Amino acid sequence: MRHFLTLMDLSPAELQALIQRAIELKAMQHRGAIHEPLKNRILAMIFEKSSTRTRVSFEAGMIQMGGGAIFLSPRDTQLGRGEPIEDSAKVLSRMVDAIMIRTFEHETIERFAEHSSVPVINALTDDYHPCQLLADIQTFVEHRGSLQGKTVAWIGDGNNMCHSYINAAAQCDFNLRIATPKGFEPKEHIVNTAADRVSLFSTPEEAVQGAHLVATDVWASMGQESEQAQRKALFKNFQVTPALLDIADDDVIFMHCLPAHRGEEVSAELMDDPRSVVWDEAENRLHAQKALLEFLLVAK
Ligand code: CP
Ligand code: NVA
Repeated sequence: MRHFLTLMDLSPAELQALIQRAIELKAMQHRGAIHEPLKNRILAMIFEKSSTRTRVSFEAGMIQMGGGAIFLSPRDTQLGRGEPIEDSAKVLSRMVDAIMIRTFEHETIERFAEHSSVPVINALTDDYHPCQLLADIQTFVEHRGSLQGKTVAWIGDGNNMCHSYINAAAQCDFNLRIATPKGFEPKEHIVNTAADRVSLFSTPEEAVQGAHLVATDVWASMGQESEQAQRKALFKNFQVTPALLDIADDDVIFMHCLPAHRGEEVSAELMDDPRSVVWDEAENRLHAQKALLEFLLVAK
């Protein structure tokens, strides 16, 4: 039984195989093939934060593969009334085949996984968003081939997405150039896990030098709403624009996990620039997570 709490829970070879499988599942889906390896299997989905893509992609993916998904929010479950995480993990995992969680502290999902008898999937914590990286890696591979030896620039907040990019740099063997305002760097202990592949900069212009992929994310993540105005001022020089991409590699592509705040971390015109692959990236959440569910739930 395996959990998927960070990208590091897969070996590099497993990750590459999973991405190839996601590409296959996408082709099957596009040609209308029926593929139901998860008949009668159930995924419980606990959302302590909002979601559009993650909820729809997991739910649609489970249904397409012959199973089903149950949406649970703390507002209408006992989790929101203080039932311990450990008890919830024990009970839910006796009823369903896998559990997906979007929560705040990363430690919450680690505790949940410790007490779950079925695979637990991280659908975003304050520290990591590994499912999004599966989609991002798939999208890069589809557009440009392997990430090995490539240069990726992360612009903006040293947040959960940035941390998962650090994991990806180690797993896929690329160089990651991170530009953040002072005080918003990624966590040092996470940078240190891939120190030979990660460089920190204080301006986006430096970080995008030679970049084959430029990625960004909102300046205030879920749970940081009260800091929105202050962050907007501090991050104002970190907007990703077509002009910024012009100084990256000639073949650069742009990604954003979405939802995007046009006019903040990304200019409105960049979203639909030919170098932007954000809609493919969003679609790939579906295919990459179907490959993940198959990996975790179908006996090999
Ligand atoms: N990118 C992402 O996880 O989107 P949602 O918050 O809509 O799930
Ligand atoms: N960093 C963002 C990602 C949203 C998908 C957040 O945590 O809100």
